[in-house]
Amino acid sequence: MPAHTTQVGIVGAGPAGLILGHLLHLNGLDSVIVENRSREYVIDRVRAGVLEQGTVDLMTAMGVGQGLSQAGLRHDGLYISFQGQRHRIDLAELTGGKAITVYGQNEVVRDLIDARTGTKRPLYFEADNVSVGGLDSDNPVIRFRHGDADHEVRCDFIAGCDGFHGICRPSIPDGVLTISERVYPFGWLGILAEAAPSSDELVYTLHERGFALFSMRSPKITRLYLQVPPDEPIDEWSDDAIWDEMLTRMTTRDGWRPNIGRIVQKGVTPMRSFVAAPMRYNRLFLAGDAAHIVPPTGAKGLNLAASDVLVLARALKAFYEQGRRTWLDEYSDVCLRRVWRAQRFSWWMTSTLHRSPDETAFDHQRQIADLDYLTSSIAAMTSLAEQYVGLPGEVSFESVGLTRRQEEQR
Ligand code: APR
Ligand code: PHB
Repeated sequence: MPAHTTQVGIVGAGPAGLILGHLLHLNGLDSVIVENRSREYVIDRVRAGVLEQGTVDLMTAMGVGQGLSQAGLRHDGLYISFQGQRHRIDLAELTGGKAITVYGQNEVVRDLIDARTGTKRPLYFEADNVSVGGLDSDNPVIRFRHGDADHEVRCDFIAGCDGFHGICRPSIPDGVLTISERVYPFGWLGILAEAAPSSDELVYTLHERGFALFSMRSPKITRLYLQVPPDEPIDEWSDDAIWDEMLTRMTTRDGWRPNIGRIVQKGVTPMRSFVAAPMRYNRLFLAGDAAHIVPPTGAKGLNLAASDVLVLARALKAFYEQGRRTWLDEYSDVCLRRVWRAQRFSWWMTSTLHRSPDETAFDHQRQIADLDYLTSSIAAMTSLAEQYVGLPGEVSFESVGLTRRQEEQR
């Protein structure tokens, strides 16, 4: 049986696992990444695409920002649309110059896989029967089958970066984790369409018939979402029916509407808020979607994954370089503070912009009043803006051995 020894065993090659692996590499720390899907599957999987300023700065400081700077679309603002009118919120003006960047998660993952491959450190795709063991010892192990061989990786630490449906969280003994969860009575039907975006910025819409979101991936590809029931069968939606509903919900009184094009991908995702605490069991650390899920309305999922692993990389670096354990011990608390702020923001965006099956007339009028206040008060817009571009992190880039270039300091 091939046996490996490493400092940090990483389960999952999504944004969390790959960013962690690269941060460790930049600090001379070894890791083995074990992913159960193929490279193509991981890259092609269509996911979200909004990067906070801090995530863009992190990717750049890590030396993996070339694709982002070439193809990322910087957005200085966004629109909130209701009662047939779009209202612009100027993110940059309200936050001292911060913005978001639209760059597909699949591009992020591809850039990070290329960087990992360049380091020559191990990354196993298509690993079968992945499991973690020895969690009550000082030498936890990751076991998996790859090709015809059973592998065992002996680790100082394991990072569970294997997403919501992974095996790390369920490997923690019963009674250790406290789960906080809210399942929403709706989902998002999302499409990618070959159509030039008709707006340079995102448009979040609350319509009588429910939520809709206008986004994009490139100057030629539009990304659109519709609120639907959570278990909506996608096959029951013809392309024409999707366009009819998109246009009904999104067209504003001034005639703005998305451009129509060939639909190249479509799917339905349910929505939930979920937090498992603490994000650690002995030497197993959970990061990203393995520990928490946010509904996509606040565009926080990928950004939380990045901020978790920044906190983890700082703690691991301090442990190996100085024998310091305090940051490992504080990992969960530091992450959860940010996670809960993002949870609150994502819940608020979601409940303000969606129609619930059990809502009353009062609830709907309150939503409209909420949006009216939001789009007419500088204080309310500033509150949304600072959360949307990302609240300041508690971990400096310097503490993970990165230097922030002068022009990125805001
Ligand atoms: N063994 C190994 N790898 C696994 C296993 C397993 N048993 N189960 C899942 N994985 C892999 C998945 O195939 C995926 O590539 O773990 C990876 C987890 O990646 P993500 O789900 O992307 O999670 P994370 O890295 O935390 O990033 C969070 O992803 O879900 C989106 O919108 C969310 O943007 C957010 C981001
Ligand atoms: C996306 O472009 O996929 C996207 C944008 C904003 C969101 C969610 C998803 O809130």
